[in-house]
Amino acid sequence: MGKSVRNDASKKRKVEEITTTANSADDVTTEENLKPPAADTANKKDGDSGNPYDKLRWITVTNDGEPANMIKLVGLKSLFSRQLPKMPRAYIARLVFDTRHESLAILSDDPTVKDSDDEIIGAICFRAFPEMRFAEIAFCAVSASHQVKGYGTKLMNLVKQEGARRGIEYFITYADNYAIGYFKKQGFTKNIAMPKGRYLGLIKDYDGGTMMECYVHPSIDFTRIPEMIQAQRQFILGRVAYKANSSKVYPPLPKDFRPNVEGVSRVNESAARAMAIPGMREAGWTMNDLINAGGQGKEADRQKNALKNEMLSIVRKLEEQQFAWPFREPVDTSEVLDYLDVVTEPIDLSTIEKRIRKGDYYKSKKMLHSDLTLMVNNCKLYNDDASTYVQCAVSLEKYLEHLFNDA
Ligand code: ACO
Repeated sequence: MGKSVRNDASKKRKVEEITTTANSADDVTTEENLKPPAADTANKKDGDSGNPYDKLRWITVTNDGEPANMIKLVGLKSLFSRQLPKMPRAYIARLVFDTRHESLAILSDDPTVKDSDDEIIGAICFRAFPEMRFAEIAFCAVSASHQVKGYGTKLMNLVKQEGARRGIEYFITYADNYAIGYFKKQGFTKNIAMPKGRYLGLIKDYDGGTMMECYVHPSIDFTRIPEMIQAQRQFILGRVAYKANSSKVYPPLPKDFRPNVEGVSRVNESAARAMAIPGMREAGWTMNDLINAGGQGKEADRQKNALKNEMLSIVRKLEEQQFAWPFREPVDTSEVLDYLDVVTEPIDLSTIEKRIRKGDYYKSKKMLHSDLTLMVNNCKLYNDDASTYVQCAVSLEKYLEHLFNDA
């Protein structure tokens, strides 16, 4: 395999029968860090890189009048016509045989189908606009018996590879609606980033298709993506292993562990004690981190306690008022049987006090005010306006205004 019959001297005559092994050495920049890890290749047989692209037989072909190429183009036209039945046959033939269009095809290895239509597993027909650094994919198809076996992906990667080699930045296509999913998986998107000025007037707008675009990164070897990702993963894991100390286990601190904090100011003593624990420094902690963390924590605790005390004092003041008696304890629903039919969120001062003491319930005085207002409104909702209960509620409401507005 690997025979190249391309004659570069004559631009007209253009057939390549290539295996990736044959052309990759010269054409593809393979960076050192993209090489597959040694452990992975060790399991492979001699001469077998394990990369499926290395065994693939593929060609690029265009209409240069050569009989061998014309046979291939007829095969391609048949494939596209079979797989794209809604596309007019004459239109397919026109583009496939157009001298500005090229097709990249994956060929079968089976010698019994050589030089027949069945030899072509799949193909992509495209036209490059080198001056605008983009190419338009006209047709893409894989023969029915080879679909969903990964050939569509391989075809696209080979086309991208070929495009990148020639300085193509974008591939665009009008994808059939039922093929949009396939193109998305190949990195195509409906968001067109290529400036309109580059393709306007060069490609036609087609009905019944969605324009999609794929950026071709010049430094990606599209036939080595799994190896590239594996190499990147191994590199990152290696760096993590190199930097991390998580595997290092320190012996427990002795019971009489008394770090020397002599000369350290009193406020920084606890941070100094923490820093003396083996592993703290290695884990990336610094004295400043600990001082800041401790300070912030203390400040947050201080603020929390201040709020708690202020809220408790509000509730205590309320409880002392003569109009507070209906609100001190929860309404006894075993006696007031219909209470819960009317009031969906019962609340009272003893419940509010428990919530404050719990610590985390009220994050602000505003939240406490909401519960107290709810308590007033519940009372007004359940009782007659003329009742003593509602009079108490109105007095409490006024008192709340005074308490919270003056605060
Ligand atoms: N819709 C959604 N996802 C799809 C489709 C689809 N029509 N076809 C394939 N996929 C998915 C596969 O499930 C696979 O996903 P995975 O990587 O998560 O497993 C991924 O795309 C690649 O699949 P392959 O096996 O590599 O693709 P396949 O060899 O089947 O080729 C192709 C796909 C070319 C669309 C083939 O099904 C075909 O020839 N269909 C008929 C012709 C056609 O519709 N061509 C596109 C018309 S648009 C145009 O030519 C511009």
